[in-house]
Amino acid sequence: MKKLMVGNWKMNKNGKECAEYLDAFLEKYSGHREAWIAPQALYVKLVINSELKAGIQNCSEHTDGAYTGEVSPRTFREMGGHFVILGHSERRQHFSETSRGLNAKIRTALQEGLTVIYCVGETLEQREQGLTLSLIGDQLHQGLNDQTKATLENLIIAYEPVWAIGTGKTASPAQAQEVHSFIRSILTAKFPSFGQKTRILYGGSVKPDNVEELLAQKDIDGGLVGGASLKAKDFLALCGDM
Ligand code: 13P
Repeated sequence: MKKLMVGNWKMNKNGKECAEYLDAFLEKYSGHREAWIAPQALYVKLVINSELKAGIQNCSEHTDGAYTGEVSPRTFREMGGHFVILGHSERRQHFSETSRGLNAKIRTALQEGLTVIYCVGETLEQREQGLTLSLIGDQLHQGLNDQTKATLENLIIAYEPVWAIGTGKTASPAQAQEVHSFIRSILTAKFPSFGQKTRILYGGSVKPDNVEELLAQKDIDGGLVGGASLKAKDFLALCGDM
């Protein structure tokens, strides 16, 4: 399977910037690695209309109804959307999302046919206290318990150590591989037919100068990238195109 690079643009780029970026990126993109983009939801149609797979950065656990301000995974799928990022640490931190609460969002999004990128990761304090693996185990179990087996082939896990997001500090390839291999072991025990082939992405200060050594690790299937996905040139480099 090709390596997968996902750009999480967070709350950045207006429509004009989004369109200019897509033009510049598509001019040089070879498809050597898969490239997916989650822009601000308001501009997601621009990505849907390009040849890249488009995502949103959150969605409702409901498909429709009286939920003012929410984004429906069903509507997003119907308009040609492909994936949703759920459980990002910024949403856990600023919007009080919990793994147990995310379980319902993951279920609905998968049942509606979206690919879910479920994010897990520890804070620096938790790492220093030796809690990394137990915490990630809990995040996986709580988020993934009782999911419909038939939908799990559309599940992707992203390991994003909170201390590495937007800080310029990247987990070393060995640190990342240790956690990815642990995630793989949990997935394999939980879902014997899917665990081995589930994609596990690394996120946290992925840049052109560290991407190759990260991707060389056995259980790192790609990257979930914030800052370095905002410049077409850098994202092309991450996709192996420059
Ligand atoms: P940075 O690549 O800016 O560290 O952000 C990572 C991230 O949060 C991707 O979801």
